[in-house]
Amino acid sequence: MEAPAPHSPAEAPMPNVTIEFTVTSPEQMQELGRRLAKLLRPGDLVMLNGELGAGKTTLTRGLGEGLGVRGAVTSPTFVIARVHPSLGDGPPLVHVDAYRLGGGLDEMEDLDLDVSLPDSVVVVEWGEGKVEDLTDDRLHVVIHRAVGDTTDEVRHVTLTGLGQRWTTVDLAVLSA
Ligand SMILES: Nc1ncnc2c1ncn2[C@@H]1O[C@H](COP(=O)(O)OP(=O)(O)OP(=O)(O)O)[C@@H](O)[C@H]1O
Ligand SMILES: [Mg+2]
Repeated sequence: MEAPAPHSPAEAPMPNVTIEFTVTSPEQMQELGRRLAKLLRPGDLVMLNGELGAGKTTLTRGLGEGLGVRGAVTSPTFVIARVHPSLGDGPPLVHVDAYRLGGGLDEMEDLDLDVSLPDSVVVVEWGEGKVEDLTDDRLHVVIHRAVGDTTDEVRHVTLTGLGQRWTTVDLAVLSA
């Protein structure tokens, strides 16, 4: 990435930070989640997008392990949001599956995510077009299978940090 111009105004839009990984098994996806957890702090919103069965919940399971929270991360049939409290002194993980919710923040209002976000790590599956109003600082994670991948377990994961929060985070440490 290019260094910023020396006298660029403070209000200048920050460049997005994007990094892509290829993951070849569910275990590796979970490991990516565990590593990502180490970069997260209260107030972080992580949006997970990608088709059914892409591996969003699998990644979240790793996040839960890395954060050291209570309870197994699952994809519940009826529950839209589940709070996993920390087993230590870290933030709770709020895991939202917005698949069955309609568009707009209105529908999300009952979840009070705006209230829990400052003290929690909030991870939302299928949140596109639904939770962006919560904050400008977001980590967008897109998981997809590419045409021509040789096995069923190959996934391409793209992480994009949006907003001030992510300009100072080196996502490349995730591949270390
Ligand atoms: N590389 C991989 N990463 C993640 N999951 C994988 C991978 N390869 C195979 N899988 C399998 O794909 C499935 C992913 O399921 P998961 O519930 O994590 O997906 P999801 O994106 O949350 O789906 P949904 O949209 O239904 O919530 C699991 O059965 C997992 O074992
Ligand atoms: Mg899921």
